[in-house]
Amino acid sequence: MLQKNDEELFGLKKFKPNEPAKSYTLPSELYFNPEIYELEQERIFYKSWNFVCHAHQLASPGAYKVVNLGNQSIAIVRGRDGSLRAFHNVCSHRAHQLLTGEGKTRAITCPYHAWQYELDGQLKSNSVLEKVEGFKTEEFCLKPVNLEVFLGFVWINLDMNAAPLSVQAADFDADVRKYVDTPETLVYAGRLTFEIKANWKNVVENFQECYHCPPAHPALVELFDHGVYRTKNYGLCSSHIAPAREENSAYKVDGTKAGNQLMYAAWYFWPNVTFNVFPGRRNLSFMHIMPTGPETTYEHWDFYLDEVTPNEEEKAAMEYIKDVLQPEDIGLVESVQRGLHSKAYTQGRLVIDKDLVGGACGSSGGLGEHQSSSTSEHGIHHFQTLYYNAMTAGSR
Ligand code: FES
Ligand SMILES: [Fe+2]
Repeated sequence: MLQKNDEELFGLKKFKPNEPAKSYTLPSELYFNPEIYELEQERIFYKSWNFVCHAHQLASPGAYKVVNLGNQSIAIVRGRDGSLRAFHNVCSHRAHQLLTGEGKTRAITCPYHAWQYELDGQLKSNSVLEKVEGFKTEEFCLKPVNLEVFLGFVWINLDMNAAPLSVQAADFDADVRKYVDTPETLVYAGRLTFEIKANWKNVVENFQECYHCPPAHPALVELFDHGVYRTKNYGLCSSHIAPAREENSAYKVDGTKAGNQLMYAAWYFWPNVTFNVFPGRRNLSFMHIMPTGPETTYEHWDFYLDEVTPNEEEKAAMEYIKDVLQPEDIGLVESVQRGLHSKAYTQGRLVIDKDLVGGACGSSGGLGEHQSSSTSEHGIHHFQTLYYNAMTAGSR
């Protein structure tokens, strides 16, 4: 077990959780130490709300989907009563896993000895179990996982006492709806997948600043106006907003077409998902950044649109993300991951504008609103402060 204290772990005093303008970056060891990776599972991913999919993807009774959260397998199931529930995907008999992938079922039947559970997790009795002395089916029901539908999407949390997202992120909900009308009615339109040789925090941090956009993304800085790109931190998220241009070399957008909007809006949302609205028809896509090891990350980019079949602009946007934007970013974060092992590097310095709107720390101990120029890295500091708070929660 990790023996280091917070001082050693976070390179304090150089990393300053509530002082972005004076802070260095997190120490490099946090991006490759296997013990840190294990701690993150317990202290972050098993205690936070994790993105699954849109609720319409599990619309009918018996529809199910299995997802992995670290080394935990979780099944999300729509019951006969229409309610969505999540369970630990493990049989209460001798621990065989129950469901795989996604599909539709009338009941949950274990492949090992055929114990059968109702869609609400209740174990059904049978002639074999009736012979077992003192056996009570209630004792061996499936164990629940916290589930919430937020903005029309399904989220799960292993912490049964976690505050709901509707409470934790009410202002975020309102902010997203300014750019995406009624996300509840969007439909799933496809997924891109990427395997990245980098720590998940490295991927989040790359998303959290657009300082790198002019040198690294020549087409992206034509698609939106980088000069007025603004990052604002609040609560569990950071928003990244900029007006878009019709003519650009990423993909063309017709601003006069009914329903099209010429805005780029994206949000990082704690701990490992981004919401993205690209210029064009109503759309919302999610970059889900899932750690698979200390230095490997699996990423889904899921698209939700007005219709299942993308129109020409949407197809062009998806191709741009797949063939240009993501390869550009993956090249950056994989190079950083190799660099973090250098004996010449431990902590860098964040580039933060001196005059942050709303003050240097905000009213909530460094998690208040920050707004600054397009080259400022205050979004990274916001993420690192959320990370610091989560990792040290038991010791403060
Ligand atoms: S392990 Fe599931 S029925 Fe035996
Ligand atoms: Fe980028």
